[in-house]
Amino acid sequence: MKLTKNQINEVNENGYIVLPYWFSDIEVKNIRKEMKKIFNDKTEADIIEKSSGEVRTAMGLHLRSKIFDNLTRHPKFFEPARQIRGDNLYIQQTKINVKAAFTGEVWQWHYDFATHSGEDGSAKPLALNLHVFLDDVNEFNGPLFFIPKSHKYGTVKSKLDTKTTSYPLWTVDQETVSSLVKENGIVSAHGKAGTSLIFVDNLVHGSAQNMSPMDRSIFSVILNPCDNAQTKFSRPDYKHGQDFKPIKSSSINSLL
Ligand code: SIN
Ligand code: MN
Repeated sequence: MKLTKNQINEVNENGYIVLPYWFSDIEVKNIRKEMKKIFNDKTEADIIEKSSGEVRTAMGLHLRSKIFDNLTRHPKFFEPARQIRGDNLYIQQTKINVKAAFTGEVWQWHYDFATHSGEDGSAKPLALNLHVFLDDVNEFNGPLFFIPKSHKYGTVKSKLDTKTTSYPLWTVDQETVSSLVKENGIVSAHGKAGTSLIFVDNLVHGSAQNMSPMDRSIFSVILNPCDNAQTKFSRPDYKHGQDFKPIKSSSINSLL
């Protein structure tokens, strides 16, 4: 549950880490069962793909379900986050990015802090994005791409794109991506369902469309230090939670 010193160094140095077998098969099975249930909700917190009408991202999950609330605060996320950012963290966002077989669309090159500063007025790029794969993720079904070390370039230029997909996103232009990739390369994050990822707020990332016959669902929680909370309130609470009290861990057995 806890990261080693080397793993913490890896997050600080590369901006991300992949944690294979972080959640067990039974935990994944129980989360997936709940995922199928919440997909029947009819709510504005589900953002629908422009072309297929499928759910692109189901948001505000800790507000919608006890199981997702337990997952959000689970020690397997919370302990590493505390090691990296300290004890006082609030839930900024939870979601499942679905990326359905054949139709799941692109997430353009971006870094999350562009949105967190531009839309929400968070002061520093301290939020941590923690994922767990709910399907096996491979080279074909739209894995995340990271540009390692791109967080070290600070806040690179970005622009709000409201056209490409149904989700408005502050994106990084091709010239900047080319120069970052020339210096640092690209990696893609694969693994079996249950694999976790942690990445920092100004790491440049994205993912291609899913033209494979395999779904690619990933749960994501963003935890932010309480003293770095949003200062602008233009987005609904399913996009940026407005309970800034430090969270407490759920039980280690809460998903069994
Ligand atoms: C994705 O689901 O591929 C993108 C996720 C993210 O930007 O956090
Ligand atoms: Mn992102």
